[in-house]
Order: sequence, then C-alpha cells, then structure tokens
Amino acid sequence: MTGNAKASRFRPSRPWRDAVLYQVYPKSFADANGDGIGDIPGMVAHLDYIASLGVDAVWVSPWYASPMNDGGYDISDYRQVDPIFGTNDDAVAFIDGCHQRGLGVVMDLVANHCSIEHEWFRAALRSPAGSPERQWFYFLDGRGENGAEPPTDWISVFGGSAWTHESAVGGAGGQWYLNLFDSSQPDLNWGNPLVAEAFDEIIRFWCDLGVDGFRLDAIPAIGKTEPFGDIGFTPGQQWDAPHWPPMPFWDADGVHEVMRRWRTIGDSYDPPRHLIGEVLVGSNERLAHYVRPDELHSVFSIGVSTVTWDADALSRFITDMSNAIAPTSSWLTWTLSSHDEVRTASRYTDAAVTGLVDDELGRARSRALHMVLFALPGAACLYQGEELGLSQVTDIPDELLQDPIFLRTGDRRLSRDGCRVPMPWTRDGATLGFNDGRRSWLPQPPEWGVLSVEQQELNSTSFLRFMREVIALRQSLVATLPLAGRCEESNGILVIERGATFRCLLNAGTTSAPLPAGWRRLLSSQALDEEGLLSPNGAVWLARG
Ligand code: NOJ
Ligand code: CA
Repeated sequence: MTGNAKASRFRPSRPWRDAVLYQVYPKSFADANGDGIGDIPGMVAHLDYIASLGVDAVWVSPWYASPMNDGGYDISDYRQVDPIFGTNDDAVAFIDGCHQRGLGVVMDLVANHCSIEHEWFRAALRSPAGSPERQWFYFLDGRGENGAEPPTDWISVFGGSAWTHESAVGGAGGQWYLNLFDSSQPDLNWGNPLVAEAFDEIIRFWCDLGVDGFRLDAIPAIGKTEPFGDIGFTPGQQWDAPHWPPMPFWDADGVHEVMRRWRTIGDSYDPPRHLIGEVLVGSNERLAHYVRPDELHSVFSIGVSTVTWDADALSRFITDMSNAIAPTSSWLTWTLSSHDEVRTASRYTDAAVTGLVDDELGRARSRALHMVLFALPGAACLYQGEELGLSQVTDIPDELLQDPIFLRTGDRRLSRDGCRVPMPWTRDGATLGFNDGRRSWLPQPPEWGVLSVEQQELNSTSFLRFMREVIALRQSLVATLPLAGRCEESNGILVIERGATFRCLLNAGTTSAPLPAGWRRLLSSQALDEEGLLSPNGAVWLARG
C-alpha cells in the first residue's frame, strides 16, 4: 500500500475553497496542567468552544518538540509533540475530537529550517567541513582573516546577519551556517535529496495520524540558488523580500518541485490532504506559480496588516490579491491577522502605540473588517482571540518578551509577543481562566476580564456573539454565492459585490452614508443610525430585494 496507510474518517462538510479556519497558537490558548503554558489537553477541553464558532477547520501552530526559541517554529523533532504541550496521544485525541465535531485539522509544517537542537544539526556540528552531515544545511567558510567574516552580506528576516559562526552553538569546524530567521533556526539545504525524503516521511507520519492538511511556513525560503554571493545590503537594513528583486535565498524556481512532490503525497490520501502556503513574494506572477494545479491548493492573503484604514487602499489590496489568483483555478485564504501581526482591533487606531486595551474605535473597525473578510470569495482564517476583539498588548515588561525579533533587534515595537498573550476565558481569576493556577507565560491585561469568553457569552451584542452571527451567515449564505463580483471604492465606502444579489459595504470615511435603494440589510457590524445610514467605521451586508 502506498501513502494512504490510514484513510481519515473526516470528510470536510464544505469544500476547502469556502472554509473558515480558526488558528490556534497552542502556547496561548488554554493551559490544562497549570504550568503557565497552553497545551493540547487545554485545546481538547475547549473543542466545543471552537466548534461553536461555526468554523470548518483548525490550523494549529507548531506543537512539535522544540527549545521554543521561536515559539515552536524551531523544531528539534518533527514526529514528537513537545512535552510542554503534551504527548502524541494528546495530539491524536485533539485530531479525533476535531473530526468528531466535523472540524478538519491543518498542521504547521516548518520546512525551511529546523532547530539547532535537531539531531540533523547536532550531527552536522559533530562532522567535519565537507561531510555529508553538513550537506543537510548551508555550512560555508567565512571570509577575511581566519574566515572571521560571514560568507555573504545576507540579512536575517529577524534582523542582523543571516549567518552564524558555528562556534556560537558549540561547533568546532570553523564554518558559518545560514539562518534566514533566528540563529537557533538553521536553514535546511533543499538541494540535498535526503532533506526532501525526510520531509516526505514527516508528512506521511502526520497524515497517517489523521491530519487533514498543512500550513506551509515561510515556503519561498526553501527556494535557493547557489552559488551564494553578496547582495549589497547596507548595515542595519531590514528584511523586505516582497519589495526586493529576485534574491538567491528566496523564491527560486526549485521550490516548485517540492510543492509538486508534497501535492502528490497529499493526493495519495483519501480524502486528499489540503495544502496552504505562507507565500510572500515579489509579484503576483510569482505568487500564482505556487497554486498551479499540481502545487498548493491555496495561499494566505498576507500583507493586509500594512494597509491603512482607507477604502481605496483596502480596495487596492483586495483587488490586487484577487487579480493574482484570478488566472489560476485556486483561491485565497483571506486573513486579517495571525500570531505574527498586530491585533486587528489595535491596528487601525493608535492603540498599538498607546497601549489602550479598551479601544472601542479599534473594535468597531475590526468588526467591520471581519464582515469584509467573510464576504470575500475564497477561504478565510481567524486567529484565536480575534473573535473576542482582543487588542495588542504593548506593556509587557522587556524581561518577559520572548520573540526573537525583539531579542535580536531590541526594538519592542517589532515584538510579536503582544498578539500572543494568553486567551481570557473567564471574567475573574488570576489568569482569567487560561488555567486555574496563578501564572501565565505572558501577563494578561486585567481589563481583559470583560472581554473574556464567559463575559461575552452573556451579552447578546458582544464581539463574540457578533462574530458567531457573521460566520453563521457566511456559511449559510455567502459561501453559496457566485465567486464572481467586484471590489471598489467610492467616497470612502468599500463595496464588495458577489453576483447580482449580495453586497458588503464598509464605511472608512468620515460621514454617514446612505444604503443603495432596492437592497435589504442582512447584518451590520453596528446599528445603522436613526436615518438608516451606515455610520463611519461600520459595515453592512445587503441582499437585493
Ligand atoms: C512564519 C511564522 O508564522 C513565524 O511565526 C515564524 O517566526 C517564521 N515563519 C519562521 O518560522
Ligand atoms: Ca501547560
């Protein structure tokens, strides 16, 4: 038997093309054993909550064995759950619990890099320059006297040089290794066929345990072109791959061979496993390559976090992304946020700077934007806590910040910890129900009690209850609409049309706007004003007739 050792019992109730995903960041979701860190038993305990949101699948950020230098995106064993999260049996219990509730499970697959603690890297460090063990990574001699300078001037996504001298991590071979992210995350050499074979087995391992798909982390990074040389980066320059010309360390054509290989493996299962890429590349053409019929099913619409509160800018972003995907038979997985982005409720106000945790304007705009998100053709993804309207936490003391971006740059504004603060489940309690102990790995603002799930369940107009309503209507109505439509801006109003009978309007202007004649209100993010006008910062779904 090839590939499909175990067919998943799970059959998606809705095509992936229309699905709503919910992203769980295990460290911050729910902590069952009270050690201050979220875990899989905590996730299992809240499965009914996830199902109650009306979503179709869960994307789980990495739960693999890891020293946690990058929140688990630095993996030391791809086949083991990290003990802080639980056991492989817990993972299976979570997968089964999802399936029993009709939810699919999409795992994070981090293939560009592993951890310096992975046995592959330990073996490489123990082996001499030029050895087969070193061929799993990019080990190069340095330049200058005694090779004391990095092999090239490349910079890391997280700041600083993309090269680390192996002596910093206990190596004695005198070489440098490439790390496009943190120095604890050595880049794997995808030019080595053994790397590809190892990942084939990892993918099969999790598919055989019932996983329904993969979210492919930083996937353009595995496309590299050798030999490596200087680019001309200036000291202190920051990463900006989407605006750079083609680079030898990003998005080289070889990546597509790997995408096809994974698609073949996923397709050998019943049902076929779903593949969604985190693809940030320099052009729409390059993006479309990733979703050719024999590659990924979908890619995330990353980048909205840089768009300002402006109907024209939003319209251009949506149109541009839609145009990228239009020539393909694929679709976008639209998203407003993730564990890497400033929370939506803080992004369109100055709350991210001022540290306001109770920002009504930010939450009003977030409600409105989620109506846009769920109106768009394609799949959608909601990051945990977004359904509560949580804000970015900006006052975490420096000594508690863990994001390697902060540790490498010293710039707390770049730290992603502020969107990873543990979920508030209850109104009271030292950790607001994250656990029943007193500690959580990052402190929660005490004001979050009123934003807790418990509190919001009680209030029929809460953010949470509103989000459930939007998702339910999306599932029953919007997901059935024609994909064809238009997105445009007029006088500060963003208009999204699906077929001839559905419109979403978002008012990003400063004055109230009339609704078009002949259209009836299905749902709005806030009450229409006394004259039936759509106030600034609101959105509405309309049906013709
Ligand atoms: C993207 C992930 O979303 C992010 O959290 C991580 O730091 C990098 N890739 C590196 O794996
Ligand atoms: Ca725990």
